[in-house]
Amino acid sequence: MSNVYYPDYLQLEKILGAQELESDKNGQHAHDEMLFIIIHQAYELWFKQVLYEVGSVMEIFKDGLVDDNGGELNIAVHRLQRVKTILDVLVKQWEIIETMTPLDFLDFRDMLRPASGFQSMQFKILEARLGLRMEARFGKQYYTSQLRPDHKAQIEALETEPTLLELVNAWLERMPFLKPEYWTGEPDFFGRLEKLYVASLVPGEEGNAALWRKIFVDGSPERHFSPAAARSALFIMLYRDEPIFQQAFRFLDSLLDLDTVMASWRARHISMVHRMIGLRVGTGGSTGKNYLKGAMDSHHIFSEIADLSSFLFERRKLPPLPERLKKAVGFAG
Ligand code: HEM
Repeated sequence: MSNVYYPDYLQLEKILGAQELESDKNGQHAHDEMLFIIIHQAYELWFKQVLYEVGSVMEIFKDGLVDDNGGELNIAVHRLQRVKTILDVLVKQWEIIETMTPLDFLDFRDMLRPASGFQSMQFKILEARLGLRMEARFGKQYYTSQLRPDHKAQIEALETEPTLLELVNAWLERMPFLKPEYWTGEPDFFGRLEKLYVASLVPGEEGNAALWRKIFVDGSPERHFSPAAARSALFIMLYRDEPIFQQAFRFLDSLLDLDTVMASWRARHISMVHRMIGLRVGTGGSTGKNYLKGAMDSHHIFSEIADLSSFLFERRKLPPLPERLKKAVGFAG
C-alpha cells in the first residue's frame, strides 16, 4: 500500500491554486475578490456533495423495487437528511459574503460580466434532477441562454431522464396497501375516507370536496402526482404512526424538508443580492431580484405532498387497518 500524503490525497495544489482574481489580471487588485471566488467555490463543492447524495437516492428508486425491509428507504431518508443539513449550512454561509460591502463589490463587479451564478451548472442540474421540468421554469425563455452550447445540451438532455419527483410518484403508485384484496368487507375504503373528509369541511370550504376528486380520483394535467400516488401518500400520512409506515412517512417528510431549505437558500440569496446590487440587473442578464423572486415562488418541487395536509383529519376518526393488510405489508414497494 502506498503512503497516502495529505496534500496529494486532497489535491490541494489544484484546489488552492484555483483562485485567479480578474482584478489582478486587470492590474486593479480588489481585496474582496478572493472572498468572492472562495465562497462560490465552497458553494459549488457542497453542491457536488448534494448531487452525489441525491443521485444515490435516485438509484435506490430507479430499479422499481425499493426494499423497505432491507433498509433502502432508511438509507434514502438518511441521505436526504444529510442534504438538508448541508443546505442549512449553505443558508448560513450567506453571512460570509455579506461581510463584503456593495462598494467593495463594485471594485471588481464589472470585470465579471457576463459570468453569474445563473451559469451554475450544478445548481441547474440539481433543480432538473429533483423534478423541475423546463416548461415549469420561471423565465424559461432565457433559462439556458447564458450557457455554453455543451452545457446547454447537458441541461436539455436531463429533460429525457426521470426526475426524483417522477421516481417517487412511481414508487407511491406501486404501494400495495390500497389493493382491494386487503379490504374485503370494506371495498370502498378510500370512499369512506372521502366521506370523513367532506364531513369535516367547515362553511366556506365546500369547494374543497371537488379538490379531493381532482387530486385522488380524476387527476389533472397540472399535478405531478397521479391519483394513485396521491392516495398512497395520503394513506402514509394518515397512518404514519403504524410501524410499517413510519419510514415511508419520514421519507416524504424529508422531501418537504428539501423544498423548504431550498426556498430558504433562495430567500437568503435574494436578500443578499438586494443589499449588494439593489434593483440593478444581474451580471447574468436577468432582471436580477425579480427573476430570483419568481424562481423562489414557483420552483417548489414537492409542494403537492404539503397540499395533502389539507385532507388530514383527527387520528381518533381513522378506521383501523385490517389485520390482513397489516400482515401483508412487511412490504417490498
Ligand atoms: C455578490 C454576490 C452575489 C450577487 C450580487 C448575486 C446576484 C445574482 C443575480 C442578480 C442572479 C440572477 C441571474 C443574473 O441575472 O445574474 C443570481 C443567480 C444565481 N446566483 Fe447569485 N449572486 C451572488 C452570489 C452568489 C453565490 C455566492 C452563489 C453560490 C453558488 C450564487 C448562486 C446563484 C445561483 C445558483 C443563481 C441562479 C438561481 C436561479 O436560477 O434560481 N450567487 N445571482
